Amino acid sequence: MSVDANRSATSGAGIEDRSDVLLRVRGLDAGYGDLQILTDVDMDVFDGEYVTIVGPNGAGKSTTMKSVFGLTALMGGDIQFKDEDITGRKPENIIHVGVGYVPQNDNIFSALTVEENLEMGAYILDDVPQDAIRAVYDRFPILEERKHQKAGTMSGGQQQMLAMGRALMLDPDLLLLDEPSAGLAPDLVDEMFDKIDEINDAGTAILMVEQNAKEALRRCDRGYVLANGQNRYMDTGSALLEDEQVRQDFLGG
Ligand SMILES: Nc1ncnc2c1ncn2[C@@H]1O[C@H](COP(=O)(O)OP(=O)(O)OP(=O)(O)O)[C@@H](O)[C@H]1O
Ligand SMILES: [Mg+2]
Repeated sequence: MSVDANRSATSGAGIEDRSDVLLRVRGLDAGYGDLQILTDVDMDVFDGEYVTIVGPNGAGKSTTMKSVFGLTALMGGDIQFKDEDITGRKPENIIHVGVGYVPQNDNIFSALTVEENLEMGAYILDDVPQDAIRAVYDRFPILEERKHQKAGTMSGGQQQMLAMGRALMLDPDLLLLDEPSAGLAPDLVDEMFDKIDEINDAGTAILMVEQNAKEALRRCDRGYVLANGQNRYMDTGSALLEDEQVRQDFLGG
């Protein structure tokens, strides 16, 4: 769907009427300091859904994720999560309502061990939940093998899994993933996407930004194309992949 269809799709029947909305972003204007990057961005994630954001470098994909997590200057619009208005809340508050976030860069503590990194993921709790650590190790066995190793000495793929594991420590309802496959060797990219599928299959909704756009759209339920800080397209992953204009303009043909 093009931008006009996207408007009617996000404001008309269908998406607007669904009762299983988890994250609802409407009319978001946001940026850094006085600099506005996003203009009137709408976005939804439904319970258990897997949603991908694609778009060119500098489109505002990371800024959108950061805005949901309370890390940008909001200039307008609303962000709703599970019937709560979280507009303008700070990250430590947003973690509490059930959102986990894995940033694009600097997403682990290099000088801490793997296990200490996981413990940091639950810092808002009085006691480290051992069952949560167990669940992360079951999902990522390599992290258990490396639990006493300094995180900064692990490979890029292992560090990315640690960052995801840390974000899973509080068992979020929604996991925000910013470029989880960036910098990984091709075989590890597939492994990372498989892990994300598993996390989603276990019930966690995913909102993911990916440069590896075609693979991400193949795997997700629904996708958004952002450009110049604005919504350009929104549709199922497969429909976006089949759209000639989207392919030509955003997916390299
Ligand atoms: N901390 C910041 N302060 C000022 N401007 C920023 C900041 N972070 C990002 N920007 C600017 O905001 C715009 C959107 O950046 P953003 O990181 O959201 O893009 P992106 O779509 O994630 O791109 P990429 O694919 O390169 O990760 C860019 O023009 C960028 O230079
Ligand atoms: Mg980015």
